[in-house]
Amino acid sequence: MCGIVGYIGSKQAYPIIINGLKRLEYRGYDSAGICVVSETPFTAKCKGKVSDLENFIGDHSVAGTIGIGHTRWATHGEPNDTNAHPHESMNGTFILIHNGIIENYGILKSKLEKRGYIFKSETDTEVLVNLIEYIYLKGNVTPEIAVRLALTKVVGAYGIAVICRDEVDTLIAARKGSPLVVGVGDGEYYVASDATPIVEFTNSVIFLNDNDVAILKRNEMVLKTIYNEALEPNIQTLDLDIEAIEKGGFDHFMLKEIFEQPRSIHDTFRGRVSTNPFDIHLGGLYKVIPNLVDAKRIILIGCGTSWHAALVGEYLLEDLARIPVEVEYASEFRYRHPIIYKDDVVIAISQSGETADTLAAIRMAKQAGAMVLGICNVVGSSIPRETHAGVYTHAGPEIGVASTKAFTAQVTVLIMMAILLGRKKGEINDDRYNELINELANVPDKIEKILQADPLILEISKRFKDATNFLYLGRGYYFPVALEGALKLKEISYIHAEGYPAAEMKHGPIALIDDTMPVVVIATKDNSYEKIVSNIQEVKARKGVIIAIVTEGDTVIKQMADYVIEIPEAGEVVGALLSVVPLQMLSYHIALLRGCNVDQPRNLAKSVTVE
Ligand code: M6R
Repeated sequence: MCGIVGYIGSKQAYPIIINGLKRLEYRGYDSAGICVVSETPFTAKCKGKVSDLENFIGDHSVAGTIGIGHTRWATHGEPNDTNAHPHESMNGTFILIHNGIIENYGILKSKLEKRGYIFKSETDTEVLVNLIEYIYLKGNVTPEIAVRLALTKVVGAYGIAVICRDEVDTLIAARKGSPLVVGVGDGEYYVASDATPIVEFTNSVIFLNDNDVAILKRNEMVLKTIYNEALEPNIQTLDLDIEAIEKGGFDHFMLKEIFEQPRSIHDTFRGRVSTNPFDIHLGGLYKVIPNLVDAKRIILIGCGTSWHAALVGEYLLEDLARIPVEVEYASEFRYRHPIIYKDDVVIAISQSGETADTLAAIRMAKQAGAMVLGICNVVGSSIPRETHAGVYTHAGPEIGVASTKAFTAQVTVLIMMAILLGRKKGEINDDRYNELINELANVPDKIEKILQADPLILEISKRFKDATNFLYLGRGYYFPVALEGALKLKEISYIHAEGYPAAEMKHGPIALIDDTMPVVVIATKDNSYEKIVSNIQEVKARKGVIIAIVTEGDTVIKQMADYVIEIPEAGEVVGALLSVVPLQMLSYHIALLRGCNVDQPRNLAKSVTVE
């Protein structure tokens, strides 16, 4: 969480930093701040979004060719002007921005207080900047040494950018646990939490590793560890299109990302799935296919929407490949002393590739000797770099905080994996193999059709925008979709919603149903169609209001449900991909009609890099 941007070069730093912060605002948006240096540093920070910061700065001219900026998601201390970054050390020598958590800040703070330091904010970051200053002044060392030594004393996670008032032609950046990318330009360097603020200037980047420190001057970069070991920079070329991180004519990133799904799903299987001849090839898994085929068990881990994709993966891998699967919340898995065997394959699913709990869980699984794979969207992020192998989802940048196209891309990868492994294990014959591949190849066109229901979904949304509770029901493959539909609604519209396996309703939630309760049921013509019809009748008997997602042409449910949204006929294996789309659209419209900020819902951040 929190986005950081830094620049050193010959251009004016302020516009680069402000625009960069806007691109990173998905990471946190409760306060923002900048520091730009010409001869002396100019710092401005305030509660609110980057636009509030711009208003706050107003007409003040902010000149300088080195600077840092921050957009915050509060961990220590409420969002207010004082707790906003940058933080300045007590004597004003260092100015610092930070993403992460300094876990031992309490001990460090009291040691510094005993040495006369006074703190203005409630943040852990102010402790770090004062620790750097204390080492610098007391030890009479260079700013770089002070930063490195301070970081060796820190427990926790950080991505930082620091400026020292005594050396204003140097920008120091360092990372542990929180992502940081250095962009390499011509006589200039950029620093950012991810590459999106950088791509419009350069596609040459260095992804910092844990314990790396970059000491950046206009024409020189030194890369080393915090322990002063020299490092050779690994400059990579990014393939990221600037248009992919713009709204492209849509009102919101979330809407754009929902409507992009025919293309993003296609991008996920492009070059990996062929229908002539029928084949699936996942290059990233090539070397580990034997481990997967022989795995006694696959453990899928993730958080939030990625955990929902993992649940779909459980159905897929058990159904098609007949491999036992367990699905774990990364945050529970890492702390509950799980049993991990050496012949387990652990697969981490993550859009950002930076989720702190997921990262910690894969480290634990690796230590236990398991093969660890990743299914991630952000190229070069931490999870792909720390796993033995994996598959990128290639959905393109997802900026809306509510995950949409990342989910369908993750499920697409899991479908490909399940078909491929089912085939390798001899569980799927030729006809079924071809049929499944065809099903997947047809998904983009079918989603295109679902998107045409947007006006209908808007009308339904108008009817339910003031509801206070929603229930989402599904069976089999559609149970995780029900969970995902409920999560989408809660996170962006702040309406309470629960997802349930439809058959479980009788064991409790049915008590909630009355004539004010909207119940969204995924009721497509699949294996459990008759059963879900019975569940709908049970809801109707208690006067619940049914919004049903049905297969095109269904007449039975049309007579029972209050509202129906049709989706094209498709096999269950790809059913999650289709049925989730109307639920995303429903959440989007309801949230918008309620006046909510759909791209930046309250209290949330896109990338949860703290546990
Ligand atoms: O980047 P990740 O996929 O690891 O993120 C996991 C969750 O934080 C994320 O899916 C979150 O639940 C989304 N806001 C859901 O829309």
